[in-house]
Amino acid sequence: MSEVIAAAKGLRYVYPDGAEVALQGVELSIGAGEVAAILAANGGGKTTLLKLIAGLLRPAEGSVRVFGLDPYRDFERVRTRLGAVFQYPAEQVIGPTVRDDVGFGLGHLNLSRQELGARVDAVLERLGIAHLAGRIPHYLSAGELKKVALAGALAARPELLILDEPFAQLDTQAVEELAVLLKEINRDWGTAIIFTSHQPEPAAMLAETVYVLAGGGVAARGTPREVFSNLDALAKSRLRPPGLFVLADILQRAGLAVEPHWDAGRMAAEILAAAGMVPGRQA
Ligand SMILES: Nc1ncnc2c1ncn2[C@@H]1O[C@H](COP(=O)(O)OP(=O)(O)OP(=O)(O)O)[C@@H](O)[C@H]1O
Ligand SMILES: [Mg+2]
Repeated sequence: MSEVIAAAKGLRYVYPDGAEVALQGVELSIGAGEVAAILAANGGGKTTLLKLIAGLLRPAEGSVRVFGLDPYRDFERVRTRLGAVFQYPAEQVIGPTVRDDVGFGLGHLNLSRQELGARVDAVLERLGIAHLAGRIPHYLSAGELKKVALAGALAARPELLILDEPFAQLDTQAVEELAVLLKEINRDWGTAIIFTSHQPEPAAMLAETVYVLAGGGVAARGTPREVFSNLDALAKSRLRPPGLFVLADILQRAGLAVEPHWDAGRMAAEILAAAGMVPGRQA
């Protein structure tokens, strides 16, 4: 079991206008290098939970620990090891140019001008947005702006990356490209990632652990395969189960021994094998 780097338990938060976010039944534990997805319906408290973990909000009740510290009280210490991109990147991309903005995230490292420039160029290159370096963030498209915010969060190579709805507003191919990129970052740098989504697809592609939140608690927690086979828990949290998992459920009920697969080709091979139409199963 890897070291726990982020944990949350029994949280409740009250916004200044009195709106209360009750997450007392939610217990999260994220290990070093782990990729976890948090799924919940609109208004389910995803953004609030991530802001509590990032130390931007102070809980009224419950506890949050990040790298063994209280992220609200020890904000600066935690922030040097944590990168975050929130739901509306326009609020956080504030530099006059993309290059300046991404460089802001490296301020605490005391790099020389030259080192700083090289680090910024490297991360822009890695995210495929080197061509945006001189642009004014205000005029970028929503998808471009998300990548700039991600570059800013990644520039310092954080141990923990917090992403609020990183896949929203992206076209289908961009979703896949971002999932691949995040997988590579996780593999190459050992960066743990916590991301939220209200769509199951990116979680199935990327996450090792999926948490489904509903009614202030965790309705399901497990691998994507475990969680997306739990159609009752998904229905409780108003989430749409992936179509192929619904298909597998129907076939299982009809007596066909098929395991759900995310990928359509693999799912088809499962069905054909179970129906005795091809020898053996595809691994
Ligand atoms: N700044 C705020 N002031 C008052 N209430 C808020 C504020 N931000 C969120 N809330 C309320 O807190 C609850 C949880 O909101 P939150 O944004 O955490 O949910 P979410 O799961 O991220 O939703 P979405 O999928 O729409 O992004 C909602 O009822 C919302 O109205
Ligand atoms: Mg949100």
